Amino acid sequence: MGTESTNLEQLVEKIKSLPRERVPVHIAIIMDGNGRWARRRGLPRPEGHRAGVAAVKRVVRFAPDVGVKILTLYAFSTENWKRPRDEVKTIMNLLRDTALGELNELVRNGVRLNVIGRFAGLPMPQRKALSYVMKKTAGGKRLLLNLALNYGGRAEIVDATKKIAEKVKSGEISPKDIDEALFEQHLYTAGIPDPELLIRTSGELRLSNYLLWQTAYTELYFTPVLWPDFDEIEFCKAILDYAGRERRFGGV
Ligand code: IPE
Ligand code: IPE
Ligand code: MG
Repeated sequence: MGTESTNLEQLVEKIKSLPRERVPVHIAIIMDGNGRWARRRGLPRPEGHRAGVAAVKRVVRFAPDVGVKILTLYAFSTENWKRPRDEVKTIMNLLRDTALGELNELVRNGVRLNVIGRFAGLPMPQRKALSYVMKKTAGGKRLLLNLALNYGGRAEIVDATKKIAEKVKSGEISPKDIDEALFEQHLYTAGIPDPELLIRTSGELRLSNYLLWQTAYTELYFTPVLWPDFDEIEFCKAILDYAGRERRFGGV
């Protein structure tokens, strides 16, 4: 057995020996650095996105083994449409092909797929494929996999506000009914607990419009590792870092 796997086993053991509340139930990830990974290898950017898909598969397969129940992955932002047409096309094609290609594996592993973001703004073939996979994986109980697609934190807050305004207009609710709990119920993530931990790869130190409401008290973890190089060991390291933190929520 190689040192790599020995190291991973040790990290997994460490996580398993932690009190349950020290292991995040919900982890959000900003999967960044695909382009730089490709550039460093002298490859075109699409190759970076392809390698990024392999990293997604690793993390999705592994997360439930260490007690993580919800993964929310930032795959395409409302701002990413600004990228060259070809790159957007590559990402959209990868999305559809991967969702369909992994369907059986997702079902076998008890993974339920859910999409958050402006779904109607995605191209029809992607919407069709994703709707099909969401329907077929609806019974998955081991892991909830939220894919943030055409997602923007500000867009989400605007969309929630519109839904609430419509309800006020129709008389279904009154302005005094609006509180944090009601607002939360109108987000794309309605009913899903906030992430305890957010990981961003590639060394960038910003949120890039991700989960602005939900991360109010989330612990942030930044690593220089580029997303295609992110693996089970890196995932464990982030969890162990989180486990050593003291969360206060404004108290003492
Ligand atoms: C993240 O990697 C993937 C998406 C945004 C879809 P990038 O493509 O942003 O990679 P860098 O930041 O250019 O290296
Ligand atoms: C955030 O990464 C979006 C995704 C990972 C999908 P970006 O690469 O788009 O973010 P910026 O432009 O560096 O802030
Ligand atoms: Mg980037």
